[in-house]
Amino acid sequence: MKKLSELSRSIDNKIALITGATSGMGLATAKLFSDQGAQVIVTDLNEDKINEVVKEISSYGKKCYGIKLDVTNLDEIKSAVAETVKLFGGIDILINNAGISIPTLINDENYEEYWDKTFNVLLKAQVQLIREALPFIQKSESGRIVNISSTEGLGATPRQSPYTSAKHGVIGLTKSLAVELGSSGITVNCICPGPIRTGMTEKIPEEDKKLYAKRRVPLKRYGEPEEVAQATLNFCLPSSSFINGAVLPVDGGLTIKRA
Ligand code: NAI
Repeated sequence: MKKLSELSRSIDNKIALITGATSGMGLATAKLFSDQGAQVIVTDLNEDKINEVVKEISSYGKKCYGIKLDVTNLDEIKSAVAETVKLFGGIDILINNAGISIPTLINDENYEEYWDKTFNVLLKAQVQLIREALPFIQKSESGRIVNISSTEGLGATPRQSPYTSAKHGVIGLTKSLAVELGSSGITVNCICPGPIRTGMTEKIPEEDKKLYAKRRVPLKRYGEPEEVAQATLNFCLPSSSFINGAVLPVDGGLTIKRA
C-alpha cells in the first residue's frame, strides 16, 4: 500500500538480545518482540526456564533462541554475544533488563557485599554487555540499546541505597553513551518502571500493593510487565531514530505526583 510517511514501525527480523528474559518485564519483552517478528535471544540464569520460554515462543511459530547468561560473568557475556552473532549474523537491539533487589540499611554488616552484588548485576553488567555487543550493534541499520532503570533512578526509597544508587547510575550511563555513540547512529535510551507485577514484587502482599498504589500512583494500580515492554518496543522501532538519551518513566504517574 502507498504510504504518506517514511519511517518504519516494524522490528520484523531484527535481532534482539534480552537479559533476564524468563521472568517479569524481560519475559514480556521477549514475547512482545517475538510477536512483532524480531528474532529474539532469550538469556537468563536458569537453563530450564530458558528452555520453557523458548519452547512457548517457538510454539507460536516465532524465531527464538535461548542462551544461558549470568550477566555478572564476563566470559558468559562474551560467549553469548559470539553465539548470537554466529547464529543470527549480528545484533540490532540490546535490552539490558536483568535485575535484583537486596533491601538493606546503610549500617548492615553485609552492606558492602550487597552493594557489590547489586552494582554488578544492575550497572556493571549493562556496561560490559554494551561493550561486547557494540561492534555488532554499530553495523546495524538501526542499532538500539535500551537500559532498564527504575523510578528509583529518579528518586529514593529507604533501605534501597545500593539499588537506588545503581539505578541512578543506569540513567547516567544511558545519557553518557547516548552522547558518545550518537555519531554512529545508535540510540541509547532508558526506561524507569514504577511498581510492576513481576517476580521482583510478587512477595509483596496484595493488600500492601493496593495501599501503595492508592497512595502513590495516580492510576491507582501496579503496572503489568507488558505495559513496560510496549514502551521498550517504542524505543526500538526504526521510526524512533531521533529519540536518544531519553529517560522514560513508565509508572502510572508516580514520579510526577506530589500530593
Ligand atoms: P523479575 O525478578 O521478574 O526478573 C528479573 C530477571 O533477571 C529474572 O529472570 C532473573 O533471573 C534475572 N537475573 C537476575 N540476576 C541475573 C544475573 N546475574 N544474570 C542474568 N539474569 C539475572 O523482575 P523484573 O521486575 O521483571 O525486573 C526487570 C528489571 O526491571 C530489573 O532491572 C528491575 O530492577 C527493574 N525494575 C523492576 C520494577 C518492579 O516493580 N518490578 C520497578 C523498577 C525497575
